Amino acid sequence: MSPVFLLRLGLDCLALGLFMAAMAYWWMDNRTHEVIGTGMFALLVLHNGFNRRWYGGIRRTRRQAKPIATVGLNLTLVAAMVTLLITSVLISQSLFGCLAIGGPDARDMHILSAYWTLIVVTLHLGLHWSVVMNVVRNMAGIRKYRLLRTMLLRFIAAGIAACGVYSSFELDIGSRLLLIPTMQFWDFNADTAGFFLRIGSIAGLYVAIGHYGVTALQASRHRPVSQSGPLRR
Ligand code: HEM
Repeated sequence: MSPVFLLRLGLDCLALGLFMAAMAYWWMDNRTHEVIGTGMFALLVLHNGFNRRWYGGIRRTRRQAKPIATVGLNLTLVAAMVTLLITSVLISQSLFGCLAIGGPDARDMHILSAYWTLIVVTLHLGLHWSVVMNVVRNMAGIRKYRLLRTMLLRFIAAGIAACGVYSSFELDIGSRLLLIPTMQFWDFNADTAGFFLRIGSIAGLYVAIGHYGVTALQASRHRPVSQSGPLRR
């Protein structure tokens, strides 16, 4: 594993951390939120710079489930991030106040794109989860497959995903994704860690959906032809 690769992965983790922190708007003052969000966008520019060759290959995408799903998801992510970026500038109160010309609609779009980005970015991470697992495996010096360890990790993943489903209702994520007005706001004075545990478990839920979804797509492609099918002699 090259140091540059590890640095890139570290910067991606930092970007995700900043994104999660920005979601806790009412935990901080407006300037801090804008600084954190702007820092996340700066790291996003680096992420896209490192991965710029992916854009050149879009037109050569094979007509198979996984590559098509990857392109569709990544382009959705670009659209959500661009919306978040534009609305950030439009509603800025501190850093880009002179450019802020947005009203309540821009604010609604900012919140809508923030929650959709949360879902799509964690699905995107799920699609690349095997890379993360390889790094962890290498760092921990794990060489052999152990059924018990795999089962235990899957059990933990299922637990996090279940918490993610529960937390989605607690934070009323559905209303926020559909732009339905909601009165459910997190009380950061009472419990700050609780918010991050909940938003983290929602992230875990979509990482799991992305990872196991793409694994299922690949498995269906490599499934052997049925013995009762037309090829049977
Ligand atoms: C990682 C990127 C960002 C995320 C995930 C994000 C997310 C959010 C969320 C969830 C709120 C919601 C508040 C609520 O529930 O009422 C919010 C509000 C706000 N954000 Fe961001 N944001 C990001 C970046 C930025 C940036 C870069 C700026 C400006 C430079 C910005 C400016 C604002 C402002 C001014 C509000 C307050 C809107 C109001 O209450 O009128 N955000 N943001």
